[in-house]
Amino acid sequence: MDDSSGLKSDLAQIVRLALAEQTEDVRLFAARLVRKYRGTEPELAQQVDLFLRTKPHRTGAPLRKAVAPSSLEQALPVDDESRLSLLKEFRDLPDQEAPLLSPDLEETLGQLILERKQAERLVAAGLVPTRSAIFVGQPGVGKTLTARWLAAQLGVPLYVLDLTAVMSSLLGRSGSNLRTALDFAKQRPCVLLLDEIDAIAKRRSDDSDVGELKRLVTVILQEVDEWPAAGMLLAATNHPELIDPALWRRFDLVVEFKTPEPVAVKEAIKRFLGPDFALFARWVDILTFAFRGQSFSDIGREIQRFRRAVALGTAPDVDLIEEFIKARALSLDRQGRIDMAVLLAKQTRLSQHSISDITGVSRDTIRKYTTDGPAVVPKKRRREG
Ligand SMILES: Nc1ncnc2c1ncn2[C@@H]1O[C@H](COP(=O)(O)OP(=O)(O)OP(=O)(O)O)[C@@H](O)[C@H]1O
Ligand SMILES: [Mg+2]
Repeated sequence: MDDSSGLKSDLAQIVRLALAEQTEDVRLFAARLVRKYRGTEPELAQQVDLFLRTKPHRTGAPLRKAVAPSSLEQALPVDDESRLSLLKEFRDLPDQEAPLLSPDLEETLGQLILERKQAERLVAAGLVPTRSAIFVGQPGVGKTLTARWLAAQLGVPLYVLDLTAVMSSLLGRSGSNLRTALDFAKQRPCVLLLDEIDAIAKRRSDDSDVGELKRLVTVILQEVDEWPAAGMLLAATNHPELIDPALWRRFDLVVEFKTPEPVAVKEAIKRFLGPDFALFARWVDILTFAFRGQSFSDIGREIQRFRRAVALGTAPDVDLIEEFIKARALSLDRQGRIDMAVLLAKQTRLSQHSISDITGVSRDTIRKYTTDGPAVVPKKRRREG
């Protein structure tokens, strides 16, 4: 390859990375170019070097520890062909807000952290801390968020394996990509997260790539067994049924993330409302009811929508909430709709006519339940207050 074709392919590569908004990869690639062209194209190298020095890391960067940006040894491993990063790095501060966790989960994670903080005591007793865990739960319940938080509590970076990058390359190279990524993580104190690990299992049933994916599973099987106690290997999935049983067995711990309970739903609503809490305070119990069965991320998305609409003045809170609960009522069974109607009757000044319109429950029924009917507001609700 002559000089100009090398330059062309480098140019194409940097454009590709820039368009994919992989800012960190652009920086790393640019740093490599500076070294590569220092001899043959000194002016170009100098110019690129200047850009790198004057343009600070993007806003996510304060989370990064101050590592010398020029030390390419620290660079994340990439797929040789596509130059995509095989790992994504997160360095969160330990004082960030903890995820909302059920008491069980809080205890389990507290134990994991304690084991690490008091590792010498375990070692003295001839034990090792939990090395690996698999997080299981519906989408949007906090598996990835918790992995980030856990790493931050342990004061180490979180590396998340990017399976798309691992498999982006020529057939036959994903196994070695995976090993490269895992070796990188094994060599430093960190938490490694194999996020959405079911993607491998899922793809396994697609006959095009069976051999390749089997190889990946084999690599992971070996690695889980041999993972050094100094690091922590996590996996996450919302399809536990797709995970190879041999792999499943190898994790030291299975951590189940359940759909949030009403107490946690209420907490989430408060947290996501943030400074707008006062504005929506009168709706909190109604929203808690309406959001039951939803994930934290669903709740967060909906609340953001309310807040935006109120901030822009496109709709008053009452209209937003009415429209929302009307939509939610459609997914409830009859008793659920009656419960919601009663709650609306007790907690708002909406007319029985409006409540009937929102919930689809007849005014007669509403009257019956609110005057002499059974107390249908769930018992738990009283303790939440
Ligand atoms: N337990 C939680 N506490 C607070 N916020 C949460 C929690 N779980 C989810 N969220 C909110 O939802 C967003 C998505 O959560 P996260 O990515 O951790 O879900 P996940 O369980 O990994 O989902 P998936 O299976 O789709 O990957 C978070 O960024 C956060 O805003
Ligand atoms: Mg996730």
